[in-house]
Amino acid sequence: MGKLKNCLSIADLEREARRRMPACVRGYVCGGTEDGQSLAESLRHFQRLGFVPRGLRDVHRRSAATTLWGQTYAQPLGFAPTGFSAIVMRDCDAALARVAREEQLPFIISGASTVPLERLQQENDNRCWYQAYLPGNMARIRPLLERLQRAEIPVLVITMDTCVGANRENLQRLRFTVPFRFSPQLLLDGLLHPRWTAGVFLRTVLSDGIPRFANLAHEMGPAITQDPPHGFRGERDLLTWDCIREIRQLWPGKLVLKGVMHPDDARLAVAHGADAVIVSTHGGRQLDSCISPLQALPGVRAAVPDDFPVLIDGGFRRGTDVLKAVALGAQMAFCGRPQLFGAAVAGEAGIRHAVSIFQQEILTDMALLGCSSLQELGPDLLRELAPAPV
Ligand SMILES: Cc1cc2nc3c(=O)[nH]c(=O)nc-3n(C[C@H](O)[C@H](O)[C@H](O)COP(=O)(O)O)c2cc1C
Repeated sequence: MGKLKNCLSIADLEREARRRMPACVRGYVCGGTEDGQSLAESLRHFQRLGFVPRGLRDVHRRSAATTLWGQTYAQPLGFAPTGFSAIVMRDCDAALARVAREEQLPFIISGASTVPLERLQQENDNRCWYQAYLPGNMARIRPLLERLQRAEIPVLVITMDTCVGANRENLQRLRFTVPFRFSPQLLLDGLLHPRWTAGVFLRTVLSDGIPRFANLAHEMGPAITQDPPHGFRGERDLLTWDCIREIRQLWPGKLVLKGVMHPDDARLAVAHGADAVIVSTHGGRQLDSCISPLQALPGVRAAVPDDFPVLIDGGFRRGTDVLKAVALGAQMAFCGRPQLFGAAVAGEAGIRHAVSIFQQEILTDMALLGCSSLQELGPDLLRELAPAPV
């Protein structure tokens, strides 16, 4: 795979993926909201923290394995939910589920995904987590929870940072909407990228038909060119802590809240019976001008009991990024775009390549830090970098 051999880092994969994606796909995958400040900050903050490594320790045998709720994962890394991933590769959700199983990573099915979750569960030995975009209406939530239980989903992740659609001006400029609508601009975009049009768009439509809202609600939804019943975002602005309390009573599996940034919300999550939180700004795709998840992490960590798992996503592109989050008390980091870059470059092999880049970097960097297990990482190994001289 020559194209992958030249991709030594996630940044290389991103560069190659951007070349291959039509403008609307690039805008959807890579973009953020408004001025892109939350997105930029999520990437930048890693550079403000530096390591203070230890030496002369036996790092001959290293393991980055971590255990969460009795399940051992090979590294402290997982696949965050990414809706409409079919836009970068035919059947992308299934490929993500397979790679996650092979590489022993958690995979979170997006509520906006297009492959039925029951099939994804088969691809992943019934270990998929499921992320819900919930309306604040228990009459609609209950049947979805029943479907998830029937499918033996072990972990329910509720995204709490999308009460309304964000101001994604970049997508408006590209005439890219959910539900999808064809426009002359999109058609021209496709014509200018024949490899994507043939390899992704036509392959998908000819083999599977127009992708559908397969997992948004308790039943298979319509094609993504149509509005689902109640609309794609209907009643999400009514979702409150009261709903979380009721869901906790109904849902027997693990319950995770995604998009927790404020320490008080972390405390509320614990008080409402959540089993973990994901510190996240939705990859800079919801509220703009947020601090980075990495900057929010210590405040969230301090607000919850020591044994309460704190997970994080946003801007993880290097093994050192993951190790910084672990050193600050995160049990696991998730990434959203890196595996989609891999998929856009080389399909399933590209997704695997993205994972192996992280894995190699994590194990090498642990040795260079003087650590043979994740337990040895702590805030003592980190310092704020001195401000650049003016
Ligand atoms: C293309 C794309 C689609 C996404 N779809 C969802 C989604 O359906 N549900 C959700 O909770 N988050 C979604 N996210 C946010 C990710 O779960 C995650 O928070 C974010 O991508 C992490 O940042 P990173 O891309 O820098 O790794 C999406 C992100 C991207 C890039």
